[in-house]
Amino acid sequence: MTVPIVIDCDPGHDDAMAILLALASPELEVRALTTVAGNQTLDKTTRNALVVLEVAGRTDIPVAAGADAPLRRELHTAAHVHGVSGLDGPELPEVSQRPVDAHAADFLAEVIEPGVVLVPTGPLTNVALMLQRHPDARPDRIVWMGGAIAEGNITPAAEFNAYVDPEACALVFASGIPITMIGLDVTHKALFTRAHADRLRGAGRAGTFVAELSDFFQLFHERSYRFDGSPIHDAVAVAQVIDPTLVETRHANVAVETASDFCDGRTVVDLRGVTQREANADVGLDIDAPRFLELLVERIASLA
Ligand code: RIB
Ligand code: CA
Repeated sequence: MTVPIVIDCDPGHDDAMAILLALASPELEVRALTTVAGNQTLDKTTRNALVVLEVAGRTDIPVAAGADAPLRRELHTAAHVHGVSGLDGPELPEVSQRPVDAHAADFLAEVIEPGVVLVPTGPLTNVALMLQRHPDARPDRIVWMGGAIAEGNITPAAEFNAYVDPEACALVFASGIPITMIGLDVTHKALFTRAHADRLRGAGRAGTFVAELSDFFQLFHERSYRFDGSPIHDAVAVAQVIDPTLVETRHANVAVETASDFCDGRTVVDLRGVTQREANADVGLDIDAPRFLELLVERIASLA
C-alpha cells in the first residue's frame, strides 16, 4: 500500500537527497513539499525545494513556503555546512514553478488527511504553527529528522533542527501525535562516501546532481568530524517510512530544553524511564546502514 507523505524541509543537501529518495520510491506518494527557514533563509530553502523538483522532473508537486524565522528566536542558519545557496556544489537550474499562494502552516492543514505521514526534516516551526492555527490538523504520524540522545552538532548539547526552534520542538513533542525521532545517534552511523557518490555520478540528471551535492557536503564532515563520508540525515527519516525495519527505535519520553544557558534545544531522551515522564516518541537507536545506503543509491540511480 502506498503511503502518502508531506515533507516539511529546509534544503539543504540532505533534505534534497531525502526528497529525491521519496520521489524515487514506489512505497511513497509525495503529496507536497513545505519549506521552512533553517539551513538557509526561507527564500533560499524554498528556491532549493523548487530546484530539486525541477531536477527530478516533478514540478507537478506543490510547494508552500512557511516560516522565515523560529516562533520566538532569531534564526540561525547553517551556511558553514550547506553554503551560501543552501545547495552549494552543483550548478542549480532555473526553476519553472512558483510556490503556491498559501503559508505552509495553512497548506499543511489542507493536505493533511487520514493516512498522511508528515516528514519534517528541518526546524519544527511550520508544524507548530499548523497545530496552533489548525488544532484539528493532526497527521497520522510524524517522522522527524532531528534531536539527539547523545552529543549535538550545532552545540555540544543540541542538534540543529531542535536548536533553531526549541519552542516549536517542545510543542510538537507535547502534541500527542505519534512521532518517530530520527536523531544524530542514528544518522551518524550511516555515512555516504565518495564511492557511493561515484556510483551516482553520470547516473542520470538526479544521480549526477546528488554526486555533486555530496562532494560539497563531504567538506564539512571531513573538516568537523574527520568522517570519510557524510550522514544523509534527512534521507534516514524518509527511509524509515519506506521500510521501518531499517531503524531500531524505543518508545521513550523526549523533553526539549527551552530555558538554559548551555543546553537550549537539547532533546532529553529518557531511555530507561527514570523520570516517570510519559513516553511520547519512538526514538531511533540504531540503523541497518548497509541496507539504508544501498536503498538510497539504488533509488536515486533509478530516477531519469
Ligand atoms: O542536524 C541535521 C539536520 O539539520 C538536517 O536536517 C540538516 O538538513 C539540518 O536541517
Ligand atoms: Ca534539513
